[in-house]
This record gives sequence, C-alpha cells and structure tokens, in this order.
Amino acid sequence: MGDKVKGDPKKEVSEVELNYIIQIQDSIAHLKNLDRVFQCIYLDPPFDLGRTFKYSAVLDGPEFKDKWDGDDYAVWLDQLLEQCKRVLAKDGTLFLHMSAGQSLIPEMVLNKHFSKVEKIFWQKAHGKNTVKNKLGAVVDIIFMASGNKRKFNLVYVPLDDYYLENSYTQKDARGFYALGAIKHDKTRKGHFYTVTNPKTGDTYEVPYGWRFPEEEMLRMIAEDRIHFPKMKKATLYKKLYKHENKGKPLSDLWTDVHYITRTDQDQRYYPTQKPFKLLRRIVAIASDPGDWVLDPCAGSGTTGAAALSLGRNAYMIDINPEATPIINERLAKAEAAGIIPIEEDVNGGNADKKSKKKRKKTSKKKKSDPNQSTLSGI
Ligand SMILES: C[S@@+](CC[C@H](N)C(=O)[O-])C[C@H]1O[C@@H](n2cnc3c(N)ncnc32)[C@H](O)[C@@H]1O
Repeated sequence: MGDKVKGDPKKEVSEVELNYIIQIQDSIAHLKNLDRVFQCIYLDPPFDLGRTFKYSAVLDGPEFKDKWDGDDYAVWLDQLLEQCKRVLAKDGTLFLHMSAGQSLIPEMVLNKHFSKVEKIFWQKAHGKNTVKNKLGAVVDIIFMASGNKRKFNLVYVPLDDYYLENSYTQKDARGFYALGAIKHDKTRKGHFYTVTNPKTGDTYEVPYGWRFPEEEMLRMIAEDRIHFPKMKKATLYKKLYKHENKGKPLSDLWTDVHYITRTDQDQRYYPTQKPFKLLRRIVAIASDPGDWVLDPCAGSGTTGAAALSLGRNAYMIDINPEATPIINERLAKAEAAGIIPIEEDVNGGNADKKSKKKRKKTSKKKKSDPNQSTLSGI
C-alpha cells in the first residue's frame, strides 16, 4: 500500500498523474505572466558572493555569475519574492536558501513580504580544511516563509544511536520499551484525577496534573501501555515501544544531510547543487501528493527530482540554457525511479540508495505551455 493522496482517500500516491515543466527564462519576467498557484516554492538564488561558478572543469564551459553592484541584489530579490508570493497558495510555504554569512538582506526582504519567517539551520559540512584567517563556514540558513495559516506535514528523523542503545531497557510481552513522561511539572498544569494500578490497587496522584485526560489514561492502562513501578511511590510512565517508534520529529537544526553524496539521484551535475535528500525533506514538509512545487532558480533540477520522487508536480525555471539538458536528465531519472515515500529517509534512510530497487511506477504525463520556451521530456 502506498501513501494516500490527500482529498481522495481511495487514491494511492502511485496513481497520481504527475507533470513537470521546465522553463528557460528570467524568473521575474516569467512569473509576472504566470497564472498558476504553487503549494511549495524552493528558492536557491545567487547568494551575492561576488564569484563566478563554473558548471564544469571545461575552461570555456558554462558558468553562473553571482556578481552584483550596489543595491542591485536587494532590488532583484525583492522583485523576485514579490512574484513568488503572487503565485504561492494562501496556505503555501516558500523556502529561501542562503549562506549564513549573506542572510541579512534576504531576511529583511522576506519580512517585508511574509507574516511568518522562520529559520532552518543546515549544517552542510563538518569542517573546512581550506580556512586560514577565519572560522570555517559550515552552516546555511533555509528561511521558511508563509502566511499565518499554512499546510505543514511533520517529518520524522531517525532517533540518535545513543538514545536507541540506552533507552529501550524495559521489556514486556510486546517487546522492548523506553519510559515516556506522563505528568506535568511546575511550568504547566495538566489534568487532575487519581490513577489506580488494576493489578495491585495502588493509587497515584501528581501535584501538577497528568499530561492527558482520564479517558485516555484508562484506555492506555487497559492496553497495558502504562509502566507501573515496582516501588509504590515511584513515578508512572507510558511505554514507548522500540518497534513502534517513528523517529523523532524534525527540529530546525539539520545536521544529518550531507552535501557530498554520490548516489543514483544525487550525482554531481552542478557546482551549487543541493542534496536530493535535503529537497525531499523540504518538499515533504510543505506539500502533499499531487501538489505543484516551483523552483524559480532550478539549477540542476534537484527540487524537481525530489518533488517527482514524492508524488508532487514540478515547475522548474532557470535563466541558463545550459541547465536544461541537466534538468531533463535528472527529472527523467526521477521519473524512472518512481515514488519513494519520505519514511524511507527515516528508517536508516537514504532514499537515493533505495532508488535502485524496483518501485511502483507512477503514471506521469509531461505538459508544456505552448506560449513559453518550455523544455521537458515531451
Ligand atoms: C545556486 S544555483 C541553484 C542550484 C540548485 N538548487 C541545484 O540544486 O542544482 C542558482 C541558479 O539560479 C539561476 N538564476 C540566476 N539568476 C536567475 C534568474 N534571474 N532567473 C532564473 N534563474 C536564475 C542560475 O542560472 C543558477 O542555475
């Protein structure tokens, strides 16, 4: 069974008809005339680094310039974000990727356009051997901007090895379990009632209340999901079974996605290419299967490949014609690999490696917009 498609519980993700569109044009000019709505936008623009990036080692090969004069960068970003906001769904989310050292202007411009601006800190490297007179820059900021009401899917990441090894020390007929807190402390008041151990008749009360209502407590006791201590006055816990753990909810500090990977979906195509797994996570947080995802600075098309791999549709724009064969190749590969549920990134998860395995193929149809310079596998 695949994941369900939101809005149509009878449909499997694998039945979603997917589309992708590639536009080679300046993003601002293109978006101004675009009559579409996107649930998720990922923007990895030039960072204003004053450098030129070579796409390959070939001397006269394609390059991407990131050099700006005066306020030009701030003005350009402002105009681009204005257009992005125009095509973003009311409950949609825009992610803006930036090096931590260059984040001031993007943060100011984002705050002008969006009511909610949060930050994700991505540790892209563990150290830099090349630095001499400064600290190695190993963090990028991914701004997450939206209105006050947004579509949000909680994504889980694997539990720490230390926690896995040291916490599941209790055992019952169901299996190994860890102890989860069920009473409130001073800072928050909970639900007040008396809990009785059905086997011994011992009773328990707590000064600041239980974390959930009595009805739920009784259900958990009936299902033997409450850990009653051997010592009478000791604390009660709920049982967190090892075989039921989904991982831990993702935080705003991402240290588990590595920049350099060499896998099927993540071969190096582009100098500023971002990891496939990073983009899968972003797309999974802010969209559902069948939704449209936009990348206005698509580069090698990582966002599109991630979107297709999760059953979303992809709309890619880049100003550089040299990027088109690269995006085409990547999206064709993603299409061939089929849908990879986000849960595969959690369970020891490297979706890239697993793409080699046979998966359910999606029925995908590529669409083109006849009025635009559209390139796709059509
Ligand atoms: C940092 S790279 C994106 C890399 C991409 N995230 C990936 O994983 O491959 C930025 C891209 O923005 C594109 N770009 C720069 N200015 C643009 C504009 N005005 N409109 C559209 N694309 C633009 C560049 O050609 C470059 O491919």
